[in-house]
Amino acid sequence: MRKKNIVLIGFMGTGKSYIGEYIAKKLDMRFYDTDNIIEKDCKCKISYIFEKYGENYFRRVENKVVSEISKKEKVVISTGGGIVLYKSNVEILKKKGIIFLLDGSFNTIINNLYDDREKRPLLKGTDWKKKAMQLFLSRKELYYNSADYIINIDNKNKEDIAGEIINIYSFQK
Ligand code: S3P
Repeated sequence: MRKKNIVLIGFMGTGKSYIGEYIAKKLDMRFYDTDNIIEKDCKCKISYIFEKYGENYFRRVENKVVSEISKKEKVVISTGGGIVLYKSNVEILKKKGIIFLLDGSFNTIINNLYDDREKRPLLKGTDWKKKAMQLFLSRKELYYNSADYIINIDNKNKEDIAGEIINIYSFQK
């Protein structure tokens, strides 16, 4: 029987792209990253899309990209942190995929985000930690409700995290 897609969800800074790419290499599967696809298609940065057209527009584009890549089989998909905001994104991804939530403490996330926070339009400005905390709390339940498996990332390296996901995946039909 054909194996499902591996789908990574989680808050900004949980390493979805980094881990997804690594898993894809390890398992010799193709890798898709919704944010990368959006940036390639518009030939611009996500922060530019937010600034120029607003978040709602970005979410609609994101939803289209999710629909497109969800048609693929036996691939690894890393998603943007806001993917869970649209219920339909999760439903579409679940049809052919197993959803792994990369779940970390707020501390881990803040440390991971520190250098790259300017790339995240939702965290722009001086009170970025406060904004991150508000989003983190408001989305927590959505992430948990969307996940098939929850993978804790605190104090773990890429190999550990990917290893846990690959192990679970290897037992799936
Ligand atoms: C977002 C997360 C970002 C990107 C956009 C919005 C969010 O992706 O899609 O800035 O709403 O959490 P990462 O999770 O890869 O940072």
